Amino acid sequence: MTRHSNRTAAEPGTIHETRLSVRTLTKRFGGLVAVDAVTFDVARAGVTAVIGPNGAGKTTLFNTIAGAFPPTDGRVLFEGDDITGLPPERVAARGLIRTFQLVQLFQNLSVKENVKVGRHLHTRGGLLAALLRPGWARREEAGVEQRARELLAFVGLDHRAELPASVLPYGQQRLLEIARAMAAEPKLLLLDEPAAGLNADETRRLAEVIRRIADDGTTVLLIEHDMTLVMNTADSVVVLDFGRKISEGTPDAVRADPAVIEAYLGSPETLHA
Ligand SMILES: Nc1ncnc2c1ncn2[C@@H]1O[C@H](COP(=O)(O)OP(=O)(O)OP(=O)(O)O)[C@@H](O)[C@H]1O
Ligand SMILES: [Mg+2]
Repeated sequence: MTRHSNRTAAEPGTIHETRLSVRTLTKRFGGLVAVDAVTFDVARAGVTAVIGPNGAGKTTLFNTIAGAFPPTDGRVLFEGDDITGLPPERVAARGLIRTFQLVQLFQNLSVKENVKVGRHLHTRGGLLAALLRPGWARREEAGVEQRARELLAFVGLDHRAELPASVLPYGQQRLLEIARAMAAEPKLLLLDEPAAGLNADETRRLAEVIRRIADDGTTVLLIEHDMTLVMNTADSVVVLDFGRKISEGTPDAVRADPAVIEAYLGSPETLHA
């Protein structure tokens, strides 16, 4: 995948080893502190996972990073630039693209159309522009078509390209969402529980796709409950509990951390891979 440099004038040619820096990020909903002074870095290379029991604040952390709503306090730096509180389309335009906890495909569009729309979904006028295809979009059509085919092959859905998205089994819909997100050529891909509802085979396939995305140079930040997936894909893990970061390190280190084991006690989820 070719990547185009999008450096700011202040930092010509800088290669940031850290893709994303989260600094004392806090999000309150009334009296509830959903994300509580969370600080961590996401390395440019590899996969970072965010884990934690239900309600720990993982999705809220993503929402705050990706601009769904501004944080109450703290900072988000993307490749050294302060993006705190920027709206989602401005964040996406910088190369930070996210998927959602629940599938959000265009069920009536074909599998391939879903990927093609993904190229413009997050930027340049959003969905309406993507669907209406103004002049600039038509000029890009041939390239977009080829890229959509490549991405479908990448996630193993090329044989389904012309079917409506609605006929895909759930596991394939989740892979299609990742292909659609990749169509926007992210530098940082945020995945919110991509393995939720997947069977063991589908989860293995997903793990391969995630590893290949990271190996191709896209940083992956992943929220996940499935510890098998975390163990198989993540280089680094951040653990949240009640909005706070309680542990951080390699998958093996956090799994052995008494604070993490304690947080998961009494939780219906399991830490065992
Ligand atoms: N928009 C909102 N308004 C009010 N409270 C919210 C909102 N979004 C999340 N919360 C609350 O913030 C806390 C963290 O929720 P969040 O969805 O971030 O957790 P999570 O770690 O993603 O959980 P899960 O594993 O179940 O997806 C919860 O107590 C939740 O009820
Ligand atoms: Mg969540």
